[in-house]
Amino acid sequence: MKPNPIMLSALTLIMASSAVMADSSHLPHATSLFNISPATNLPNVSPLNSDLANRGAYIARTADCMACHRDDYSGGVAIETPIGNIYSTNITPSQRYGIGNYTETDFKKALQKGRAPTHQLYPAMPYPSYHGMADADISALFAYFQTVPLVEESPEKTTRLPFPLNIRTLMLAWNVINVPSTENRTGLTQTQQRGEYLVNNLEHCGTCHTPRNLTQGLDKDKYLSGAPLGKWYAPNITPDNDSGIGRWSESDIATYLRTGLLDKRAYAGGPMAEAVAHSTRYLSDEDLSAMAAYLKVVPIIKTDDYVIPVDTSRLPNPVSRSITYNLIEQKDYLAKAKATNADFNNDRNSPKALYLAACGSCHGVDGYAQPDARYASIVGLSSIRRIKPDALINVIAYGAKGALNTAPKMPGFEKELTHAQIASITNYVRINFGGLPSSNVSAADVKHILK
Ligand code: HEC
Ligand code: HEC
Ligand code: HEC
Repeated sequence: MKPNPIMLSALTLIMASSAVMADSSHLPHATSLFNISPATNLPNVSPLNSDLANRGAYIARTADCMACHRDDYSGGVAIETPIGNIYSTNITPSQRYGIGNYTETDFKKALQKGRAPTHQLYPAMPYPSYHGMADADISALFAYFQTVPLVEESPEKTTRLPFPLNIRTLMLAWNVINVPSTENRTGLTQTQQRGEYLVNNLEHCGTCHTPRNLTQGLDKDKYLSGAPLGKWYAPNITPDNDSGIGRWSESDIATYLRTGLLDKRAYAGGPMAEAVAHSTRYLSDEDLSAMAAYLKVVPIIKTDDYVIPVDTSRLPNPVSRSITYNLIEQKDYLAKAKATNADFNNDRNSPKALYLAACGSCHGVDGYAQPDARYASIVGLSSIRRIKPDALINVIAYGAKGALNTAPKMPGFEKELTHAQIASITNYVRINFGGLPSSNVSAADVKHILK
């Protein structure tokens, strides 16, 4: 079938975005922040299950089914699209509300082709990525889903798209051009091939990190080079030294995927935090290394959003070692900084006074915060060193939520601070904690970025 232009323009609207608006009440609780061995509690693994089913539990983690279908697979999570929300469905073995009537062949078609027994699925379900999933892994997943506890109810919310977008067979035309969403490369080592399979077909990293083409499929020419994601931006993760992660070692990548943190470089907030919390932190060391090895050899793409290298000599040191975990010491130090900072008392709108007032109580005077109490250190993070200040401004306006904790969340300051004040704090943070020589974000820039 050849797609015609009218169908395509309707389809352009069907956004396959994977920006999950999951409410995070179901985020798993943290293990220790510094525990870097894989979290072991795969869901519903038991000696009573077959080996195949237990292996399927691991595949479910690596393919991140829970991020969209919830921890109990009851569904109802909204996937944001420009034409309205598409809700995930109940995939427990309930015959009435879930996939209890699926045969293994039905299951395989749903995953690889986006075809459920009675209807065509929207690509909010990442079948363009799962298309390449190995048959053996699908069999394991299928066996696993038979062991999942039943949820005998439909999700509280279900998809209702207006005509003509509710015509699901339109997806057939879309599939012709957009499935599969990635191509396999030749000449890779066995480890890199395993990494390619994980990145593309199980973890579907590209659904967030690859920009979209005109029909909202993944743009293969811009593979993994960074894409906007609602109020977040998923950065370039090709091995370009300036705009991507070329300066990260393989073990840096593995550490970040395991913990959501890379000291003085990166911190996973928002959607990446969800990917770490639900999926990557459960992967075996071998699988994380394989993904890292593959990410080092994907084609390099240079974008204009480059990361300014850390000038470590310009980064502040914590005033003492204990201040990063001693709450009282930090509180006293902040009080002292406020008392002795002339601006804080005379000009409440000076950059430092604004930072101390709005951010200092959580991130500390020196930006080191209290990692032990799960307040992020913001010193040196790539999100504050990008040439485009968008990521930092969005975090200040809308807040952040980390990968490994349910407890402290960062509030958004959209209502409390003016655009000029946000600009001022942005410049202060970039220069003092990012080590940038200068930063000239204006109120107009902030207005433009937040619009
Ligand atoms: C990025 C979000 C996302 C991820 C990840 C995801 N799904 Fe889905 N899934 C959805 C959405 C949304 C739907 C409903 C699509 C629709 O209504 O067209 C869906 C539908 C399905 C269906 C069809 C159910 C029915 O209605 O008959 C099956 C089966 C399914 N998913 C299984 C899985 C499995 C297994 C995994 C992990 C390997 C997974 N999904 C991962 C979003 C996701
Ligand atoms: C649901 C969307 C989503 C998915 C899926 C996702 N990411 Fe991300 N990723 C993001 C966002 C958004 C950020 C920026 C996080 C921040 O600054 O807090 C990010 C940040 C990163 C970074 C840090 C880059 C830097 O310069 O700081 C790396 C590395 C990364 N992701 C790799 C991956 C890999 C590998 C996968 C697949 C296993 C993946 N991501 C899956 C959205 C996603
Ligand atoms: C109430 C405490 C609190 C306040 C006030 C606060 N933050 Fe945060 N911030 C956090 C926490 C907690 C995190 C880590 C998110 C998490 O783990 O839940 C964070 C994360 C961050 C990050 C890293 C996010 C990323 O994904 O890269 C930046 C940058 C940041 N904050 C800047 C600021 C700035 C600038 C201010 C002042 C305008 C501020 N914060 C005010 C608690 C706070």
